[in-house]
Amino acid sequence: MSNENKCCCGCSQEDPRLAELKEFIVSHKDTKGALIPVMHKVQTLYGFLPEDVLLIVSDELKVPMTEIYGVASFYSFFSLVPKGEHIIRVCLGTACYVKGSQLIIDEISKDLNIQVGETTPDGKFTLEACRCLGACGLAPAMIIGEKVYGRLTPEKIAGILAEY
Ligand code: FES
Repeated sequence: MSNENKCCCGCSQEDPRLAELKEFIVSHKDTKGALIPVMHKVQTLYGFLPEDVLLIVSDELKVPMTEIYGVASFYSFFSLVPKGEHIIRVCLGTACYVKGSQLIIDEISKDLNIQVGETTPDGKFTLEACRCLGACGLAPAMIIGEKVYGRLTPEKIAGILAEY
């Protein structure tokens, strides 16, 4: 049994997430287009798509890994690498961009020493750029978890990150 399939608490039992996934696969297996819902389930359970788990999906659904990787790279919801505990999404939509959201990204990159798409080595933050958050009146805006931060300036970033 690989590390991905061991229980997250470190005991020798099978990871309960894997048991839940297998149940989900059994109930979706004979449905057309089952791959995407099953991959969503993996992403929700693990926070990303671990290779070991995708191999199980490939085997159970009889779908080649190349097709699974194709789907994973097509949809931005899917991630093949673990994400941080807090995902920072800085809006690069038009309203935010013209009000300087690139400067916000640059400041966060500098403070956390990561680029867009990367996660800090301690697994605490992932930095992402995104399209309109629907908060254009607060431009430039970003979201961390569920919380929206607006009218950002580079000077405000250190204080906001310190909340986490
Ligand atoms: S463009 Fe950034 S919130 Fe709309």
